[in-house]
Amino acid sequence: MTPAPEPLTRFIAEVRQALAQPAAHETIAAALARLVARDDWLPPAYAQPHPDHYQQYLLHADPAGRFSIVSFVWGPGQATPIHDHGVWGAVGVLRGAEHSQAYLADGTTPPRPVGDRHTLHPGAVELVGPDVGDIHKVSNAIADAVSVSIHVYGTNIGLHPRHVYPAQGGIKPFISGYANGPDTPAFGAG
Ligand code: FE2
Repeated sequence: MTPAPEPLTRFIAEVRQALAQPAAHETIAAALARLVARDDWLPPAYAQPHPDHYQQYLLHADPAGRFSIVSFVWGPGQATPIHDHGVWGAVGVLRGAEHSQAYLADGTTPPRPVGDRHTLHPGAVELVGPDVGDIHKVSNAIADAVSVSIHVYGTNIGLHPRHVYPAQGGIKPFISGYANGPDTPAFGAG
């Protein structure tokens, strides 16, 4: 398998080390902030937008299934539905900017916004997950350019059953998949 670019190789090693220690998610968030502090390592093939919808590429899947790393690519005007993750995760903005709005939702009533929508710029990292707030909607904050973020999750996220929460209420099952397929991660561990 193709070796990862050096900054990503280092991040993969840092995630592995962090998962063996207490406070792993804070350590991983700090490592992700270092990874997205520079924007010179992601091959263009994994930063290509789809004309109709956002998409994510699987950059690395831990062979033991403990985590996955993806690039999330937004074309102009593209947004996620309101969705959950079901596992811990961290989102780091590499390029452009993203709007993020947290919600409370249980399916019985329309989802309710929590706090104000905020904007994440390159280098910013946000945690998601059942312990810190797991439901949100994210969109490209740039009207005429592509935005890219790097995400790490505590499972192979593209295969993980989760949920979207329609604006009128209710819950729909959701599996995100990958633009490059679940069995073809871009990079090994380096
Ligand atoms: Fe999300």
